[in-house]
Amino acid sequence: MINKSQGNIAILCSGGDVSGMNPAIKHFVEYAKEKNLTPFFIYDGFEGLIDDNIHEASYCNVQGIIFRGGTKIGSARSKRFLEVSYRRKAKENLDKHGIDKLLVLGGDGSFRGMDIFYKEHGIAFAGVPSTIDNDIVGTEYCLGVDTALNSIRTSLDHIRDTASSFKRAFVVETMGRDCGYLALVSALTSGAELCLIPEVTYDLTFYEERFKDALKKGRGYFLAVVSEGIKEEPIMIAKWFEEKIGIEARVTVLGHTQRGGNPTSRDRLMAYRFVHFGIDGLLEGKKDAIVCYNNGFFNHKSIKEVANKRYQLDSTLVDLFFKNRS
Ligand code: F6P
Repeated sequence: MINKSQGNIAILCSGGDVSGMNPAIKHFVEYAKEKNLTPFFIYDGFEGLIDDNIHEASYCNVQGIIFRGGTKIGSARSKRFLEVSYRRKAKENLDKHGIDKLLVLGGDGSFRGMDIFYKEHGIAFAGVPSTIDNDIVGTEYCLGVDTALNSIRTSLDHIRDTASSFKRAFVVETMGRDCGYLALVSALTSGAELCLIPEVTYDLTFYEERFKDALKKGRGYFLAVVSEGIKEEPIMIAKWFEEKIGIEARVTVLGHTQRGGNPTSRDRLMAYRFVHFGIDGLLEGKKDAIVCYNNGFFNHKSIKEVANKRYQLDSTLVDLFFKNRS
């Protein structure tokens, strides 16, 4: 018996790339085919949608990519997709290829764009939360976070080696935009002495006596993990260590190193599960849903529940570090 074709489906990546996108792309091709869908790649995010950089995908396209960071099909932050005329062009391109379902890997900005597109043109989409910032409301996990955390942990372990050898304080800046998740979890899991994040107000004078006393008692180094979203530059924190605590200090900005690297096992598995759930939802008739993961379970949430809201850090995590420290 020949199985009935379920039509054409495409995948695109939008916004900051994450490690985990490639395993997601691989599973997208495999699972789409299993479900009798014809898979397509849209290259370079919404830019490729506008420019008709859309191509049918085969198993060969995804061989050997499961262990690679970044995204084989490229990503972009598209300003053009904010304009109605370019979205019309995008719809024409999808029609040309007979695509009426999209899997979108990105952050909430990308999902908002897709929501508008869906309302204008009725192209169903499933959003897979993908950002190292882990700042999407409605899901406790976004693809790529585990790899980024492991990469930061490795860097902090390396920095501790030199910090302790030289008796220095290191101020290490993580990414995260306005969200302190990466910095907070990294500070906790690396035993940092100081953590500064946008969500928690801080007063460095609070730490002065404590750190000076620790130095007197023989402490050899300090690790401070600060999020890029705090108001002060890391160099000012380093200056504070030198002038107020009396220890030589250095700054390391981890920057885009946090976005790359081989996806961890967790991100490979989560990529598979997010994609699986997203495609299933589209086949069940879901139209503009975000795949969310909470307490070990996946579900679909509407864009209204996810976008335009400020992500709140888990207060138990915040307490783990900051109780009695601020
Ligand atoms: O949103 C992911 C992220 O890596 C943020 O943490 C960071 O602020 C931003 O993207 C960097 O953007 P770009 O790669 O465009 O410099």
